[in-house]
Amino acid sequence: MDMMTKIASLIEEELTEVWPQAQGLPSKEEIRGFLEVPPDKAMGDYAFPCFRLAKALRNAPPKIAQSLAEKWNHGNVARAEAVNGYLNFFLNRVNFAEETLARVLEEGEKFGSSEMGKGKTVCLDYSSINIAKRFHIGHLSTTMIGNSLKRIYDFLGYKTVGINHLGDWGTQFGKMVCAYKMWGNDDEVAKGGVGELTRLYVKFHEEAEKNPALEDDGRAWFKKIEDGDEEALRIFNWFKELTLKDTARVYDLLGVSFDSYAGESFYNDKMDRVIDELRDKGLLEISEGASIVDLSEDKMPPCLILKKDGTTLYATRDLAAAIYRHDTYDFAKCLYVVAYQQDLHFRQIFRVLEKMGYAWAKDCVHVAFGMISFEGESLSTRKGKVVYLEDLLDQAQEKALQVIEEKSPNLENKEEVARQVGIGAVIYTDLSNSRIKDIDFRWDRALNFEGESGPYVQYTHARCCSLLRKAEGLDLPARDPAALDNDEAQALLLLISRFPDVVKEAAEKYEPFMITRAVTDIAQAYNRFYYEHRILDEDSAGTASRVDLTRATRDVIRTGLYLIGIEAPERM
Ligand code: ARG
Repeated sequence: MDMMTKIASLIEEELTEVWPQAQGLPSKEEIRGFLEVPPDKAMGDYAFPCFRLAKALRNAPPKIAQSLAEKWNHGNVARAEAVNGYLNFFLNRVNFAEETLARVLEEGEKFGSSEMGKGKTVCLDYSSINIAKRFHIGHLSTTMIGNSLKRIYDFLGYKTVGINHLGDWGTQFGKMVCAYKMWGNDDEVAKGGVGELTRLYVKFHEEAEKNPALEDDGRAWFKKIEDGDEEALRIFNWFKELTLKDTARVYDLLGVSFDSYAGESFYNDKMDRVIDELRDKGLLEISEGASIVDLSEDKMPPCLILKKDGTTLYATRDLAAAIYRHDTYDFAKCLYVVAYQQDLHFRQIFRVLEKMGYAWAKDCVHVAFGMISFEGESLSTRKGKVVYLEDLLDQAQEKALQVIEEKSPNLENKEEVARQVGIGAVIYTDLSNSRIKDIDFRWDRALNFEGESGPYVQYTHARCCSLLRKAEGLDLPARDPAALDNDEAQALLLLISRFPDVVKEAAEKYEPFMITRAVTDIAQAYNRFYYEHRILDEDSAGTASRVDLTRATRDVIRTGLYLIGIEAPERM
């Protein structure tokens, strides 16, 4: 049992003792939820706001706090003090150290996990790249936030479905096939992959400026794809395969995977049903030849369902996708990890689903995020300032290798560690702030081994591993937690003990950065502890405690890094 739960159950016990007749008292879980962490440690480690009980006990909060404090006799767990209607708790340090260590070490890699999601499914739509386009840094956040949320929900016992909703539909693919037919060459496409496809696409636009009739050819090829023409489909599917092969390298490097690649084209034959349904439910209107769902009541522009020429749109496919996902996975939640620029699109989609009578529309969530710039420069494909993810990741590994060569010339698997550190630095940066904030990627910050960075946290983990290797040779007695009755150890233990709550909160708020924050705080607290106290010292029972605290730190950092998608090398 963690400390908060323990204190909550002691409060509950005491309430029924002091006020046996009271009605409507909060449950143990509610009491736990009411517990606060005071901003100032002088106010205690936890505080219980007694105004929460005022109604049930028909009494003033300061009076309630006073009565509870007087009766409190659990000093072995925590001392209680009444201050202005709050009951402030000061943990018994030795007991706290022992309970926390015992719990973390027993649970090991499972510490922080839960069964709360048992029997529930969460769908996550993330990364969702576009076919025939190179993977650029603009798609990093959706990929890493989605990957992290998937790991977090898994860890909390949910069944998760990771979906790469491929952008594989639209007239541009007709143009691409057309360009290939005119100027393409099998070998070059096979060799050049997405790069060659992009070249062909650019050429198409250049030529179409001189000869506008080409646009019609492009549309005609798209029509062929839509109608399932064998040749058109074969070429298009080949392009898709090439793109997926190119991106697979990036996904491998990032350690990201998916359960489904059902993208936009997958819904090609599932949209008629939705359109019929919209019509039957009286939601479809014709406006200037197009079919729309009016959303003026909701102060939104109309949701476009069919263009004048009868072709479907991005929104049409998203409606079909949402319904399909609900039918297939019966999700408790469907998360769309997509840039905030698409905010209106998702509000429209969710509203239309609601109008269709789908109560589960409320379980669809747009998990929006901000923009990423690179060394202070915003990235726009148009101005040609694109940073390709693969190049960025290659550079990250090279730069990490340089640092490692300097710092640890004798390390055996330098290349592998450079991969883990370089990639970790990129992911850490991406998940280092509340997701809605814009991020500026800077090498000096990402790879700063001393600052708040991926390498810093990884390095602390490796430091723990190294100490544990040394401790293995020692014959240590049972730990004496009294050795952890010092500020540095206590601060570290408190952070560790709160980790399970952080994981839950990160899931609730869809904020992986909360875990980034937690592992960074834990790493910093560990290093403070490490500099103030010799871990392996003369007092063997004390050493045993410090080694156990080191082990607990290692486990939590490793889990935390895993949850944000970062590997934890044992030597650096
Ligand atoms: N392919 C789109 C893009 O790159 C993102 C798709 C997001 N998912 C969705 N179901 N609309 O902008």
